[in-house]
Amino acid sequence: MSTKLTTLSLLLLGTFSLTTAAPAPAPIPDLTPSSSSSSSSCSNTSFQTTSLLAQSLSLNTSVLFTTPSHAVEGGYLSFTVLNPAFPSTPVECTAADTRKWEFFYGDQWFNCPSPTSSSESGSRIVETKFRYTNRGETRYLAYVGGTVEIEQRWRCAGEDGGDSITFKASAAADITLSCDIHKSQNPNWTNGATYASNSMVCAKQDWEVEVNEISAVA
Ligand SMILES: *[C@@H]1O[C@H](CO)[C@@H](O)[C@H](O)[C@H]1NC(C)=O
Ligand SMILES: *[C@@H]1O[C@H](CO)[C@@H](O)[C@H](O)[C@H]1NC(C)=O
Ligand SMILES: *[C@@H]1O[C@H](CO)[C@@H](O)[C@H](O)[C@H]1NC(C)=O
Repeated sequence: MSTKLTTLSLLLLGTFSLTTAAPAPAPIPDLTPSSSSSSSSCSNTSFQTTSLLAQSLSLNTSVLFTTPSHAVEGGYLSFTVLNPAFPSTPVECTAADTRKWEFFYGDQWFNCPSPTSSSESGSRIVETKFRYTNRGETRYLAYVGGTVEIEQRWRCAGEDGGDSITFKASAAADITLSCDIHKSQNPNWTNGATYASNSMVCAKQDWEVEVNEISAVA
């Protein structure tokens, strides 16, 4: 084993926590490549990862009452996860739930399919999952709050024939969505017509999801 690998292995097998006490944005670490462009390798970037990007996060919900006592319900959430170590490998996450009124209660993890690896180096995203907690108390306002949590595992191929490293990160962000809410009721309802509908469409937005725990295992 080379000296380089021995040094690297001291960094491994640990779980390092990044404090998330203050809501203020974490200082952006200096990611400037020190000498050559090769310093932005998968594992080097991974050791410096402080957040994942949840891109174009969109939420919409709809409750359609076909009679005063029967509703057809649906909540839909979607976004794209970008990991700085895989800038050209977006992971698509989508979820649907049918439990009005909040739809996403944070009690269920949804899997996001891993893209098939296009990298010949062998580095790849292994698993991505998320859950979302929609906050009920703001549902009737134009701003809807919630918490998105993402867990991701990825593998960085070893350099110069060295061991590969598997990373696992847990990330979370409190988000506030800006939404349009439409409610209508048919005062002259007769059977067969729509009695009432209540729908919400939130503007797509990008969110930095802060990594609060990351581990690396050779
Ligand atoms: C990764 O970082 C180490 C330590 O800073 C450096 O020696 C190495 O050249 C970097 N690897 C790549 C592929 O850039
Ligand atoms: C709600 O989201 C779903 C899934 O992303 C989408 O198919 C549907 O068109 C959206 N509805 C509205 C009203 O935006
Ligand atoms: C409901 O029916 C009443 C009586 O027929 C009528 O005056 C009223 O305009 C109707 N309202 C709507 C919204 O259609």
